[in-house]
Amino acid sequence: MNKLSIVGAGMVGEAAAQIIAREELCRELTLIDVQGELAKGKALDVWQAAVESGSDTRVHGGADAQLLHDSELVVITAGVPRKPGQSRQDVLSINLPIIDGIMRDINQHAPTATVLVVSNPVDVLTYRAWSLSKLGRNKVFGQAGVLDTARMKCFIAEETGFSARDITALVLGGHGDSMVPLMRYCAVSSVPLSHFLSNEQIERIVQRTRQGGGEILGLKKMGSACDAPGVAIAQMVDAIAHWRNSILPTVAILEGEYGRTGIAMGVPCVLAGEGIERVIELSLDAQEQAMFDQSADQVARDIAEMNALVGGGA
Ligand code: LAC
Repeated sequence: MNKLSIVGAGMVGEAAAQIIAREELCRELTLIDVQGELAKGKALDVWQAAVESGSDTRVHGGADAQLLHDSELVVITAGVPRKPGQSRQDVLSINLPIIDGIMRDINQHAPTATVLVVSNPVDVLTYRAWSLSKLGRNKVFGQAGVLDTARMKCFIAEETGFSARDITALVLGGHGDSMVPLMRYCAVSSVPLSHFLSNEQIERIVQRTRQGGGEILGLKKMGSACDAPGVAIAQMVDAIAHWRNSILPTVAILEGEYGRTGIAMGVPCVLAGEGIERVIELSLDAQEQAMFDQSADQVARDIAEMNALVGGGA
């Protein structure tokens, strides 16, 4: 990839930038933030670290929206994180105008760029970003499930004692307490989890995964998770930059899949150079579908709240 921009030079944006630059996922990386000096400083730091890893990615920073020009991919991490005790939806009224402003800038300076939304509430803001863009749903999507899945892998490794490298997992649904960890699709070296763990142990993993972001926030207090979100962003960027055709849980606009339209939420998608290559529709059993529906209903309510804030829709 030639040029990638990250809008939002906070902790998550910086963590993602470090990996993207180190792994040379693009030739030019721009870090944009309303605090231009901060973005410039972080860009220099990230660049100098990447050089020492043998990367030739050139990193710039600043506040000027023109820095977006020619970006092939824009990652949006801008916005305030929630505070302990808040839900992700609680930061909607602050982060919504921020996303609107960024989408105006993208439409002006990089109108064909693929957009990866990370700011919370990510399902709602992905939907908003897509409705403000002039692009198909393959080009505007969000990150949540890769992070949630990483968390679940940790908890499975802890509960089973097996190598985290051998664990595969899948989390769908909205990025909130109603997210849908699909235990039937979790395995250790292809052996289903139910072979090793009791229902009670599995339920513990499910609950801890759902609360995974809140657990870290409650401990850090001054900010949300940043390192694992940075890795999750880099994983999606890697799939796009290298045209990998990777199946990754992605916050996608649904067009009838899983019985839903007019909503964005986490579903397995094939990611490649043009963004979402296709949405994979798994056949869910009755219990999984019920959990998915509950999560989708919550996201639909959150989107309705957002529509009310913007006066009836995009
Ligand atoms: C989390 C926030 C960033 O899950 O959504 O940690």
